[in-house]
Amino acid sequence: MPENARSPLKPLSEALLFASNFLRHPNMLGSIVPSSRFLVNQVLEPVDWSRARVLVEYGPGVGTFTAEILRRMRSDAQLVAIETNQDFVRFLQRALPDPRLHVVHDSAAEVQPVLQRLGLPAPRYIISGIPLGSMPDPVRTDIAVKSRAALEPGGAFLVYQFTARALPVLQRTFGDVRRSFERRNLPPAQLFMCAKRAG
Ligand SMILES: C[S@@+](CC[C@H](N)C(=O)[O-])C[C@H]1O[C@@H](n2cnc3c(N)ncnc32)[C@H](O)[C@@H]1O
Repeated sequence: MPENARSPLKPLSEALLFASNFLRHPNMLGSIVPSSRFLVNQVLEPVDWSRARVLVEYGPGVGTFTAEILRRMRSDAQLVAIETNQDFVRFLQRALPDPRLHVVHDSAAEVQPVLQRLGLPAPRYIISGIPLGSMPDPVRTDIAVKSRAALEPGGAFLVYQFTARALPVLQRTFGDVRRSFERRNLPPAQLFMCAKRAG
């Protein structure tokens, strides 16, 4: 749907759903408001849309990245959005009725079985806003290792975080991590682009 065709109440209801879930699960969300368009643009900047036939998003929340990924991706590409919060899953299934989108109620740690169940090949990109920094080290290591294993060679794990606590795990797992920063987000965000080298 074009931006100017949206109901003015939609962004408000998204913001309220997000904020009420933040009050119940502050560690799982990390922020009281969804990501800004500045952060969305910077995280998606490295994506080569012509080569991305399968993409995965971890922790879509109310779909701030999801809607923009759908807008930019190929008409024959598939997006798998994996979310642990049932309220967000229900909301996204209603709000984004796009046949290219698969909203799955599960954890990022289950990325490989989820892709297998959907019969999809390895993704080119995994885009992640889940709070790796607040998780115990073995849990974030497990997610980083499984994400690298799930990606196709030449693909990338695009991570945004509000702290740098996940950086050592990402460097150990991927070796090649490029960093940047988006200060126009609330809170300001760190970006880690983790490449899975081809070959
Ligand atoms: C910081 S919010 C990001 C929401 C949205 N992507 C945005 O940028 O506005 C983190 C999201 O990750 C979800 N989440 C937390 N742990 C998760 C996990 N292990 N697997 C999948 N989703 C998870 C939370 O429920 C929440 O929706």
